[in-house]
Amino acid sequence: MSHANPGGLLDIIAEHQDVHHYQDLLWEGSYGDYLELVQRDGAVARNAYQRLYDLIEAYGSKEYTEYRKTILRHNFFDDPFDNGADAVFGIDIHLMKLVRVFRAAALGYGPEKRVILLHGPVGSAKSTIARLLKKGLERYSRTDKGKLYTYSWVVDGEEIPSPMNDEPLKLLPDATRPEILARLNSSGTSRYPIKIIGELNPVCRYWYRELMRRYNGDFLKVQEHIKVRRLLLSEKDRVGIGTFQPKDEKNQDSTELTGDINYRKIAEYGSDSDPRAFNFDGEFCVANRGIIEFVEMLKLDVAFLYDLLGASQEHRIKPKKFAQTSIDEVIIGHTNEPEYRRLQSNEYMEALRDRTIKIDVPYITKPRQEAKIYIKDFNPEKVSAHIAPHTIEMAALWAVLTRLEQPSNHKLSLLQKAKLYDGRSVRGFTEDHVKELRKAATREGMIGISPRYVQDKLSNALVKDPDLKVLNPFMVFNELESGLKNHSLISNEEEREGYRELLGLVKEEYTDIVKNEVQKAIAADEGALRRLCSNYIDNLRAYVLKEKVKNTFTGEYEEPHERLMRSIEEKIDIPDARKDDFRRELMNYIAALALDGKNFDYTMNERLHRALELKLFEDSKDSIKLTSLVSDTMDADTQAKIEIVRQRLIDHYGYDEVSASDVLQYVASIFARGDASSGQG
Ligand SMILES: Nc1ncnc2c1ncn2[C@@H]1O[C@H](COP(=O)(O)OP(=O)(O)OP(=O)(O)O)[C@@H](O)[C@H]1O
Ligand SMILES: [Mg+2]
Repeated sequence: MSHANPGGLLDIIAEHQDVHHYQDLLWEGSYGDYLELVQRDGAVARNAYQRLYDLIEAYGSKEYTEYRKTILRHNFFDDPFDNGADAVFGIDIHLMKLVRVFRAAALGYGPEKRVILLHGPVGSAKSTIARLLKKGLERYSRTDKGKLYTYSWVVDGEEIPSPMNDEPLKLLPDATRPEILARLNSSGTSRYPIKIIGELNPVCRYWYRELMRRYNGDFLKVQEHIKVRRLLLSEKDRVGIGTFQPKDEKNQDSTELTGDINYRKIAEYGSDSDPRAFNFDGEFCVANRGIIEFVEMLKLDVAFLYDLLGASQEHRIKPKKFAQTSIDEVIIGHTNEPEYRRLQSNEYMEALRDRTIKIDVPYITKPRQEAKIYIKDFNPEKVSAHIAPHTIEMAALWAVLTRLEQPSNHKLSLLQKAKLYDGRSVRGFTEDHVKELRKAATREGMIGISPRYVQDKLSNALVKDPDLKVLNPFMVFNELESGLKNHSLISNEEEREGYRELLGLVKEEYTDIVKNEVQKAIAADEGALRRLCSNYIDNLRAYVLKEKVKNTFTGEYEEPHERLMRSIEEKIDIPDARKDDFRRELMNYIAALALDGKNFDYTMNERLHRALELKLFEDSKDSIKLTSLVSDTMDADTQAKIEIVRQRLIDHYGYDEVSASDVLQYVASIFARGDASSGQG
């Protein structure tokens, strides 16, 4: 170790720093060095759209099928930069469309001349997507694959950086371009042909002309004044990444986009049209070579908007007093859906629509995907209180329900629709039905509750009681409900009432889930389940084969035990008329297994498994006396039995001591009301 304190904290620093990489980032070279560099690796001369698309592609993708369509999930949207902090879930199809637009723009098919407009309801991840793109470009520019370069002039001992961080190839004299480009492109090191598009910025044009004059048109002399250097994009340093947010409508000034005259310097240079007296600090200038994001794009003043549309169409901006200047940057805007709708009747919308590519960014309509948003912030690493099972799941389910349209098929409930969308099965409905449902519902995902509302309420519920040990679903339900009273985005009473009713639906669903869970925990005696199963199968075999069963106690042969079989089958709603079919099917399955030398096990048949559990639960619930939890008296025996169930909830269902007791108490209170038989299926 080269420092005075080996083994200390400085060692950690030494271990982490990569001096070579750092030197790479600060690379400087001559113009000739740069041309050689481009020859070796043409990718350094990509334009902004190409770099952005390659960035996304660099992280790869996963393929899956949904409703027989192949969908690509780009790993980029998992946010590989910040450990998933800005990951975007559940809207893969829309993200795929966005990436396709980037690809077409990279290939120069047209979208590079449009404004890409992310459009969706409030809180649908539009800003998150933009943030991810910006962050990605910053990081990419620091890697070998994503590097890019710009230059400074060195004149009479002074260094004058290209104010818009232009690509050094733009300095090539026109006459030399075709031949040099032909040579560069023949090396075939870039997937995109290298092109030089647009002119230099006014400052560089000025120096180019000055130096050409000085050297009588000898570019070889001029280029000795050019120092090429690596360009690192950084939003904080205002290099290559820009964000523009319109202030109030009367207060918009185009200099914010294109830069302004530096009045102090006019005195120095004597003219307000001397490019050296201009600050190229407008957002378009700053964002050159990278990306510019327009927040709430439709709040832009109309005149502004045309500037913006011009910038995207021509790749040029017009700073005050100067000729047009080329830009090379991805232009992406976003607008929320209410704003977009408000303007739809406005005449300039048509011009706008024609020049933008609108990408919908809807809310998630799959409960399990929605839950991922909340798990990102509310997980054991971040939250000290225990979050009871299903708490987040139920909040997510409610959020999704508010976004769905009532199915027209009255055989399907809204809750079932949400389950179908989640990729779960609902009896009687196939993937094709789901596809139809999706097609029929046009506003889905554009309406409803925003994830931000749910995030806020979860957070409220967590901080309300400083000593909170467990956050359970009811605390969250209460928060969600009470917040509806003064939710600013709910426009009418009917909507509010609708959301309340949906909360009621979610409570019912939760009750079903925990009832099931407790029943399973009570019946989770594997030995007992297996005995019951083999007893059932013995009787079933005898019934189907018209034989008798051997009584294990007496050793005598008896008729199959019809009442036992029915008491199991009824648990999963198999009517008397269908029992023969059910038994025969099961027998065939078991026989086929036997041919393969395999034994039947109740876990192989989900329905039978459930039936056995329910039967076992019914048989044991009287002996466990769960309902005594809600009365005052409990004998030691009952207590011990309940303790076993509680432990099973902790071991297998994710509860902790407190939440397991809570849920047992809750389910017991339901059973005490005489509702013990429901919760099947
Ligand atoms: N599909 C999604 N995947 C991951 N997180 C999401 C998703 N949709 C919304 N969020 C989360 O919701 C919150 C709001 O997102 P964001 O700020 O990106 O929305 P927005 O569309 O820009 O909203 P606004 O229109 O109000 O500006 C963020 O915490 C974000 O992570
Ligand atoms: Mg936003």
